[in-house]
Amino acid sequence: MSYANLLVAIEDRIATVTVNRPDKLNALNDATIEELGRAIAALSGDAAVGGIIVTGAGRAFVAGADIVELSLKSPEDARRLARRGQEVFARFERCPKPVIAAVNGFALGGGCELALACHVRLASEHAKFGQPEVKLGVIPGYGGTQRLPRLVGRGMALQLLLTGEIIDAAEAHRIGLVNRVVPRESLLETADTLARRMVRNAPLALRHALLAIDQGLEVDLEKGLLLEATLFGILCGTEDLREGMNAFLEKRKAAFRGK
Ligand code: COA
Repeated sequence: MSYANLLVAIEDRIATVTVNRPDKLNALNDATIEELGRAIAALSGDAAVGGIIVTGAGRAFVAGADIVELSLKSPEDARRLARRGQEVFARFERCPKPVIAAVNGFALGGGCELALACHVRLASEHAKFGQPEVKLGVIPGYGGTQRLPRLVGRGMALQLLLTGEIIDAAEAHRIGLVNRVVPRESLLETADTLARRMVRNAPLALRHALLAIDQGLEVDLEKGLLLEATLFGILCGTEDLREGMNAFLEKRKAAFRGK
């Protein structure tokens, strides 16, 4: 599959998706949103891929929606764009394989929202985060008003959204927006190591853990626990569960097959 604004590379079952419009700080124009949607759909369904890393080319992760394109949209077109972007980002969140954001620089507006839709966020110590939309007269449209408070709490999310302030990686880590901050030169290596640690586990267990948290957190505790038990039961019927337990008892490495 070919892309104009993305680089997609697959090595040892880890796919790296790089948003590649560095001269525009990887701003998300309509074409890039479409390509992200296509890429995540293809990688989600590709049996040769076990995990995904998302990053940006150059000095930005993604500096937001493309302001040039946005400035030309009618209200109805903008609403449609927001729904489309939300749908594309939901594919990242619902991806049945771990998706790690390796935030290498500016993650502003839609860039912060893209990172929020990933399962885990790592940041270079030079990364910057923010939802500056109010400075332009809008609000986040790709899930920021919903995912940010779920991740960092309502008070901190409101502070970021209402001021539009840009915070550094250390502050993003302090408030729980990123899992870990690493030196710029080791960001991709750290993301790769983390992805490998996840991908070596049973694929169906990974998929069901993601599903339990993604869906379970959106319902009440009782229903979430019911979902957890249901998925737990399903996994107990898989070949990989037998393999995992046999490998433990036989003191060898498990060879999971995703069945
Ligand atoms: N949309 C479209 N183009 C963007 C962009 C965006 N969100 N963010 C950056 N660019 C473009 C700039 O227009 C510039 O293009 P040019 O060289 O053709 O003029 C290029 O990327 C480099 O950006 P520049 O502003 O010159 O870099 P900087 O280092 O001075 O500032 C930022 C970096 C991130 C602080 C600044 O670009 C910025 O504030 N971007 C907008 C962030 C934002 O509000 N995002 C939310 C959008 S809803």
